Amino acid sequence: MVPKTAALASGPLRYLEAGSGRPILLLHAFPLAADQWQPQLLSPPPGWRLVAPDLRGFGGSPTLGRPADASMDRYAVDVFELMTHLDIGEAAVAGLSMGGYVALAMLAADAGRITGLVLADTRATADTEEARGGRDRMIALVNRDGSSGVAEQMLPKLLGETSARQQPNLALIVQRMIEGNGPAGIEAALHAMRDRPDRSLLLPTITCPTVVICGTDDRVTPPGECKALSQSIPGAVFLAIDGAAHLSNLEQPEAFSAGMKLAM
Ligand code: MLT
Repeated sequence: MVPKTAALASGPLRYLEAGSGRPILLLHAFPLAADQWQPQLLSPPPGWRLVAPDLRGFGGSPTLGRPADASMDRYAVDVFELMTHLDIGEAAVAGLSMGGYVALAMLAADAGRITGLVLADTRATADTEEARGGRDRMIALVNRDGSSGVAEQMLPKLLGETSARQQPNLALIVQRMIEGNGPAGIEAALHAMRDRPDRSLLLPTITCPTVVICGTDDRVTPPGECKALSQSIPGAVFLAIDGAAHLSNLEQPEAFSAGMKLAM
């Protein structure tokens, strides 16, 4: 799949695209990139156009400005700009983990442009004090050891035991994806995640079809928390995926894609 680059007013943004028809934006996790969505992009559901951007500072989308100025709202503006650039007025949005934080920022900014929502392995609440301390420690880590230090720390939390057994190559693929990101983009995302607002009050106002997906072995955003998230959204469907941990779309692509279609 040939990556494309959109020359946005805010700066170049790389994205992957597959299929044609109704659009769905696929927003990746921290600290990955659009390639996280390869399983879905390789087999787009008939009638759907899948667009997966590298969020600012990840993959082939260059970092702009100071890392401390990054925010979920800023990533959301980039995605809306990309939609406009591609002549996409409205779209469904699927966000996994940090991608879910961006999806919620998009909803807060302009819910009228969002026709369906997939929130996977994510949460609406802000970071706790303990989590904020963890972000600061990871900022120090990425500045000291670069993205490979972050990969080493994150990898054991992202993939589950079933993946290790059934897809032994997946850990290396994810490690390479993380190591392909520059430290500045990773640092920027850590600032943005640490300082992101609580979006809980937004949940009862969501009116588009919504699916909340979670790997049953997810220890970062556990199933109980994802289920509670779904229960705050009117009419939302909750789907727990066996054999997946935090990166459910990569670990169990078929089950994930089947769930994703419920919001499309
Ligand atoms: C992610 O997968 O995007 C991150 O684990 C999210 C987070 O650290 O809050």
